[in-house]
Amino acid sequence: MSAPNMDVLVSLAKRRGFIFQSSEIYGGTGSCWDYGPLGVELKQNIKRVWWRDFVQERPDMVGLDASILMHATVWKASGHVDNFTDPMVDCRECKRRFRADQLGDMPWLHFCPATKGNKFTIPAGEPCKHCGATRTLCPECGKGELTAPRQFNLMFKTFMGPVEEDAALTYLRPETAQGIFVNFDNVLQSMRLKLPFGIAQIGKAFRNEITPGNFIFRSREFEQMEIEYFVNPNDRVDGRPADEAIHDTWIEACRAWFLRYGVAADNLKFHEHDKAELAHYSKRTVDILYKFPMGWSELMGIANRTDFDLKQHAKFSGKSLTYFDEERKEHIVPFVIEPSAGVDRALLAFLLDAYQEEEVRGEKRVVLRLHHELAPIKIAVLPLLKKRPEIVAIAHELRTRLAKRWTTVYDDTAAIGRLYRRQDEVGTRYCVTVDVKTVGDREKGETGDQKVTIRERDSMEQIRVPLAELDTVFGRLMGDTAWAEVAAAYPRAEA
Ligand code: GAP
Repeated sequence: MSAPNMDVLVSLAKRRGFIFQSSEIYGGTGSCWDYGPLGVELKQNIKRVWWRDFVQERPDMVGLDASILMHATVWKASGHVDNFTDPMVDCRECKRRFRADQLGDMPWLHFCPATKGNKFTIPAGEPCKHCGATRTLCPECGKGELTAPRQFNLMFKTFMGPVEEDAALTYLRPETAQGIFVNFDNVLQSMRLKLPFGIAQIGKAFRNEITPGNFIFRSREFEQMEIEYFVNPNDRVDGRPADEAIHDTWIEACRAWFLRYGVAADNLKFHEHDKAELAHYSKRTVDILYKFPMGWSELMGIANRTDFDLKQHAKFSGKSLTYFDEERKEHIVPFVIEPSAGVDRALLAFLLDAYQEEEVRGEKRVVLRLHHELAPIKIAVLPLLKKRPEIVAIAHELRTRLAKRWTTVYDDTAAIGRLYRRQDEVGTRYCVTVDVKTVGDREKGETGDQKVTIRERDSMEQIRVPLAELDTVFGRLMGDTAWAEVAAAYPRAEA
């Protein structure tokens, strides 16, 4: 099954309430996105399982929620004021702006002199087949000369307080990491931690990207899930310097995390940064790439930031940011391993990987095979006949009962087949149908079998389960019990 193209996913995301363009009624921004009712659930689920797996369940991790606005000197110390720049060129004709280092990756518009000026869109990096020319002009309008590259700082500037003067200048944070470094000593002292330990944070980051795009892949406001894992560089693990060995452990743990929540192994690969690519603070960086529709691109990065940040903040603040090594009786500056993931990019990868189109009884079915912990809706309760008040009453009652433990919706706005398709398309793993057999025919004095049908999204199998057993059944299904194991204990219902 091939991955959907981005347009298909963008359309589904909008139509089904996952993601909308920010300020759409004003024409949209194209660089910021709003998460709708289902998107916000999916995003929260991703953050929740990440926090549970990497913070809550580990004895060596704690959390933090630092403020977005920080002292301006933080960004001088971190190197962002001087180094967080991209080379940018402008088209003198259409005024569009491009990243100089990405021009070679873009298809380009060409008015070919060998074909009386006919217009062609030529694939990235290729020459024109007719005249042999390579791109020199603006790739978008095909007419304008480009300016020489200029360095452009990606941080958003703002002013703290009522006066817009240089002394009040600060920035919206471009990464959550610095909030962790400046709190290193606060956390160390208050929690009495021993190396190695990590501090995790999930929060918004802002970058004035020159070329945002590919839906939520690159936007100007996004969320990060970052860990700064502090290591004693004098320690050894398996005969290797601790920072190097622990770096490898984190690289594998991050890959395993994406696999655990449903990303196919074939869609992930590692990219080792070469010397020229390494950030100014990094000794070694490995990216996890995902096979996005526009090609292999960075999903997250795992960097060895050495002692760069703590030393810089100590230098600029005048405060000691060291750790006392009891064994060696010396103060040391820890090294830092940093697994840094974008929430939005993770969400995009999970959506792309889950999306499938298939044919069922001659009809197209779109299904999001999301991991059950990520699915925005866990259970949909559907009345087979909305004209039968007893059926509707039981369905409402059920929704109220199940919603106390799992995100559950009620829907009676279409015929049952259509309702199933709608839930498939948003990744709801289980539908519960209340039907005539559940309630029986009152006029005939029947009380019904007090059972409902549970339908599973992926297999489309249906089983008949007593109402009284639903909480137990879903408790097992939402845990780690496989559908097949649960379903084996109940009679099949007809599809
Ligand atoms: N603290 C290290 C750091 O910020 P980064 O590689 O610049 O490293 C980490 O960013 C992750 O944040 C990326 O791998 C990506 O998932 C996400 N990210 C970065 N810029 C982004 C953008 N403009 N839009 C969406 N996600 C972005």
